[in-house]
Amino acid sequence: MASARYIISCMSHTVKALLFSLAGLTLVAGTVSIRTVAAAAAQTSTRWTIPANADEEKNPLPTNAATLAGGKKLFAANCQRCHGPAGKGDGPDADPAHAADMDLTNTARAARNLDGTVFYKIWNGRGTPKMPAFSDELTKEQVWAIVAYAQSLRK
Ligand code: HEC
Repeated sequence: MASARYIISCMSHTVKALLFSLAGLTLVAGTVSIRTVAAAAAQTSTRWTIPANADEEKNPLPTNAATLAGGKKLFAANCQRCHGPAGKGDGPDADPAHAADMDLTNTARAARNLDGTVFYKIWNGRGTPKMPAFSDELTKEQVWAIVAYAQSLRK
């Protein structure tokens, strides 16, 4: 205990301030995770901010009929209102100003939308233009099923 106090007394004011504000943030934020805070920061940018290693994440689910059928159902429930029934970006809640960005069938956009990136986009969403984050509503497995289905629309 004494040594812990010694270590604390040795810390610079900046480090202490940082630790205290982090502790405060944790208390105030409660269930708001650091990841959510980071995602919110990323969402203020005008482009998607995707971590460099996002593409390294591979879909853990097999791309078979059962996965695609599950993904299709989840897509209809969560994505269709904006992206449209066939993923063309023509759902009732679509943002007409970003119709091209919302077209999930565009093969020209496949290279920059590998599975890991699509997962990241769905999990974290973005603010401008608006696409909600689904990390609170769906499990990772559900999102991977949607990824498999969404990627099948591009072929
Ligand atoms: C409220 C409307 C809305 C909902 C709901 C929504 N999206 Fe989006 N989505 C958007 C908008 C707007 C964009 C364009 C953002 C941009 O690229 O700047 C987008 C972009 C995307 C992209 C990137 C496309 C590209 O070529 O870069 C993917 C992938 C995507 N959405 C998948 C999904 C999936 C899957 C779901 C359901 C889990 C979903 N979206 C739900 C509005 C929505």
